[in-house]
Amino acid sequence: MNGNRQNIWVAVWGTSLCLLLAIAGAWAQSPSAAPTGPKLAEEEFKNIQALKGIPADQVIPSMQFIAASLGVECEFCHVAHANEKDDKKPKVTARKMIEMMMAINKNNFEGHREVTCYSCHRGSTDPVATPIITDEEPRAAGGEGKKPDAAKTSLPAADQLLDKYLAAIGGAVALQKITSRVQKGTLTAFGGQHFSVDVYSKAPDKRVSIMHLQGGDSITAFDGKQGWLGVPGRVHTMSTAENDAARIDADLYLPAHLKTLYQKFSVDAGEKIDGHETYMVVGRTEGQPPLRLYLDKESSLLLRLVRYAETPLGRNPTQIDYADYRDANGVKVPFRWNLARPGNRFVIQIEQVQQNVPVDEAKFAPPSVAPKPPAP
Ligand code: HEC
Ligand code: HEC
Repeated sequence: MNGNRQNIWVAVWGTSLCLLLAIAGAWAQSPSAAPTGPKLAEEEFKNIQALKGIPADQVIPSMQFIAASLGVECEFCHVAHANEKDDKKPKVTARKMIEMMMAINKNNFEGHREVTCYSCHRGSTDPVATPIITDEEPRAAGGEGKKPDAAKTSLPAADQLLDKYLAAIGGAVALQKITSRVQKGTLTAFGGQHFSVDVYSKAPDKRVSIMHLQGGDSITAFDGKQGWLGVPGRVHTMSTAENDAARIDADLYLPAHLKTLYQKFSVDAGEKIDGHETYMVVGRTEGQPPLRLYLDKESSLLLRLVRYAETPLGRNPTQIDYADYRDANGVKVPFRWNLARPGNRFVIQIEQVQQNVPVDEAKFAPPSVAPKPPAP
């Protein structure tokens, strides 16, 4: 039963058992720790060599990046309950690989992180070194991703697309009239388990989603400043990268705010999503990971959002697909969203939406729990 419950956390947070144990370990310490500048990896963990000097809260995201790049679980390199041990050969190899990757970038790319684990591994432990002969037609000159200039010049401007999206949602005036939103629905994790979910939003940027599991509630929340995750008896304060993502999700007026969130926007042809042609608008700000928005060519609605959490080794992507837009108090609200990360996805289908109803502020604040040591 315990194992089953852990599988559920795995499904929802994109974490494997090993990661949960690592997080649980960090949780046991973090709530009480006074913030005396960012703690370094080697100060919090026992056996850091290659990643010395990175902030401690970047270790787990870096590990997620490694696992996704190689298409493996944590257990491929780690012994359960003992991530510090070096007794699995792949871990020792991986440490050398981290050093190699850093050296490649330092010596060839002026220290810019151009080559990552994924550049070679592409989701496999064994990189392919020989070109593959395929049955497909060779690509047109210019290579993958490079669109001919003619197609580029006929693309609409980003401003225009973002304006159309805002209008399609119902417009800024209608949007600002929404002060709260309460949604009730069902979460389906991959593997087919269903759980009921409640999502409370309050303008401008408070949000909490509560998933009801047999063993208690699993909570993801943003109180307007700080995000946190909660499971019975434990609270985890979000890292900076997690916080940035939670802030985007919590913004009740996101369609109206998008233009102000990034310094620059560019437009490209987007991929087809669920049969709909899209434009891809990319928001960029110096020193931050980009945000990709896929807007329906016909309806102008947002069909997909891809955001990235920066880690020292590479970026961890999260993709959210929005569908089943319905009218609620003059604005269009997606009733279904599908959240996917490498190796994990879940769908939330909303059954009921209420807006402009009172929502208790206390819902967004983390409960003050006495941290329990992780279960043995
Ligand atoms: C391909 C191998 C590989 C995979 C997969 C991997 N790790 Fe690691 N992990 C390493 C290496 C190498 C280190 C040591 C890094 C260093 O020397 O700085 C490490 C260190 C750690 C540490 C620090 C342990 C300590 O106390 O020193 C934790 C915690 C950790 N990993 C958790 C995870 C989690 C959770 C996952 C799954 C999401 C994971 N790792 C996946 C290779 C891996
Ligand atoms: C420049 C290309 C390149 C990069 C970048 C790279 N690798 Fe590798 N890696 C390889 C190759 C090639 C092999 C296979 C070597 C062999 O077969 O002996 C390999 C093997 C491995 C293995 C052993 C797999 C096994 O089956 O035991 C691990 C673990 C690994 N890499 C981890 C990483 C990690 C983690 C990163 C990023 C920090 C990384 N690699 C970056 C090329 C690369």
